[in-house]
Amino acid sequence: MARRGSGISWHLLSARPVPRRGRSAAPQQRDPVSAVGPTVTAVRQPDDLADVRASYDRVADAYVAMGAGLLGPEPWLRAALAAFTEHVAPLGPVLDVGCGPGTTTAHLASLGVDVRGVDLSSGMVGHARRLHPGLSFEVASATDLRLADASLGGALGWWSLVNLPRDVLAAVVADLARALVTGGQLLLGAHVGDEDVPRTSAYGVDGVRWTTHRWLPDALVDVVVSAGLELVTELRFPARGSQPPQVLLCAQRPQR
Ligand SMILES: C[S@@+](CC[C@H](N)C(=O)[O-])C[C@H]1O[C@@H](n2cnc3c(N)ncnc32)[C@H](O)[C@@H]1O
Repeated sequence: MARRGSGISWHLLSARPVPRRGRSAAPQQRDPVSAVGPTVTAVRQPDDLADVRASYDRVADAYVAMGAGLLGPEPWLRAALAAFTEHVAPLGPVLDVGCGPGTTTAHLASLGVDVRGVDLSSGMVGHARRLHPGLSFEVASATDLRLADASLGGALGWWSLVNLPRDVLAAVVADLARALVTGGQLLLGAHVGDEDVPRTSAYGVDGVRWTTHRWLPDALVDVVVSAGLELVTELRFPARGSQPPQVLLCAQRPQR
């Protein structure tokens, strides 16, 4: 059963506007809601963020209808989530970044994690709220979370940060690392490879515009280590059907 009302205050901003293409993001402003700490860092907003958001809005219904991301057939992913839960649940709240329709968020909540989800796509968040009405979901980009230092026991980028340009992913991981408490853990899932794969259709829906950045596991390990995290484990999954191989990293904020 999820622990609700834990008294932990969340500082995440909701539903921030996505910058239009070709414009640089406005400097981050402090206000009474968002002033969360002294070291909130600016992450570059990708030029294609609005396209990525519109594309996930476009596929959200199909994603849910076809059961994409369901954990029932994935015992090793559930095992990883169980191990993650055992470690992070006592440490503090968990943020599922790019939660989609909230499947993994709800699974963690069912294991007793104080978890909430955020996603770039309001269509995805709409499904998450409908499917999991007892949980909290907000629209926000991983590139603009404004989390307080040491405010999270754990964070997930569960195959959800794969559309970020490589330098932006590194900045987002550094931002999440800063938000973890000592010992707090990050789970990061990605498709294995070194290609940048442009997509014009996904989940049976045309009119999509995003790029999936595949990652060589060692390069992804470099990203988390460069963010000041230490690698806890690395799970590899072979190619299945048309799906490329997958990697899931767990990394944690070390004792200083
Ligand atoms: C492949 S789906 C995975 C969703 C979910 N983690 C799951 O396993 O079902 C990728 C998700 O990442 C979200 N996403 C993509 N870019 C994002 C960003 N910059 N910030 C937050 N979410 C993002 C998409 O809207 C989409 O819901």
